[in-house]
Amino acid sequence: MHLPQQQLGLRIGTMVTEFTATARAHSNIAFIKYWGNRDSGIRLPANSSLSMNLAALHSTTRVTWSEALAEDRLMINEEPAAPAAFLRVRAHLDTLRAELGSTLRADVSSNNNFPMGAGIASSASAFAALTVAATAALGMGLSARELSALARRGSGSAARSIPAGFVEWRAGSADKESYAESIASPDYWPLEDVIAVISRDHKHVGSTAGHAAADTSILQRVRVETAADRLERAKHAILARDFEGLAPVVEEDSNLMHAVMMTSKPSLFYWLPKSLRIMLAVQEWRRQGVKVCYTLDAGPNVHCICGAEDAAAVAARLKELDSDIEVIRSSVGGGAQLLNASDRSD
Ligand code: PMV
Repeated sequence: MHLPQQQLGLRIGTMVTEFTATARAHSNIAFIKYWGNRDSGIRLPANSSLSMNLAALHSTTRVTWSEALAEDRLMINEEPAAPAAFLRVRAHLDTLRAELGSTLRADVSSNNNFPMGAGIASSASAFAALTVAATAALGMGLSARELSALARRGSGSAARSIPAGFVEWRAGSADKESYAESIASPDYWPLEDVIAVISRDHKHVGSTAGHAAADTSILQRVRVETAADRLERAKHAILARDFEGLAPVVEEDSNLMHAVMMTSKPSLFYWLPKSLRIMLAVQEWRRQGVKVCYTLDAGPNVHCICGAEDAAAVAARLKELDSDIEVIRSSVGGGAQLLNASDRSD
């Protein structure tokens, strides 16, 4: 990945030194899921994963490191962040300070153009954008690999929002070896994610707590042992633009992750009755010849992965199934990037 020229703001006229940069990153949807860590302290995942970036869903984050600040500050969608979000971002800023050798505090302002905490990974785009802006503001010319490994420390799936298009995150066995890389560009295969949003509520158990519970399921060991095989099948199908090959392995992998969640102690049920109704309808539509399959993250909303030619029909069928379903459509997205002042309107 090639990042545009760093954008630094240095304000010394007022005798205060500040460094500013703004970055945008897209959310991503995993075809082969990350669930569980072998080292939760540094978010070293139990298995490798594979995803597609989502062009329509992004976070835009401005970071200003300043000598004048005694504490970090965080605004999300123009409002002061809730304590839990603030603590998580501050922990990531601590990681970045340690890596970059800085003691400056940061003023962070992050805007998402989609609902947070409803099974559409806002943490992936948020921590990817934060990592790119924060490191660029300090003038660090990090490689895409280094950025991906650093973003991973904030939220595992954020590692996959650094590279463009279709992305593989190799688990690795050490901090610097666990990063994501693009396997195909966004225009390689025109897929769409047609997201059936059936609930915008904040999820009851976040993914950090969910990952921690994964090993309490007797199914997790088998899921992890067999993940590499599914990843190879999915990767092969993407590279061959083979929808019939991709659909069953994407659904199987989502079902397996949810089987682990449901059999964790305590059990985690993210599906709602409506989620299951949509999943069964998607399978029926596929039998009728529509290019569509489903996958669900840690939430009830159903991501319907479609051939672009079938996306409008799938959106219409979802509305027919239940007019209360809100539909968000996204094509394949690019990688994280720095923004110039002129690109920043959301
Ligand atoms: O990055 P996290 O900690 O929010 O974990 C993401 C977990 C899933 O979205 C459920 C699966 C994945 O691979 O994105």
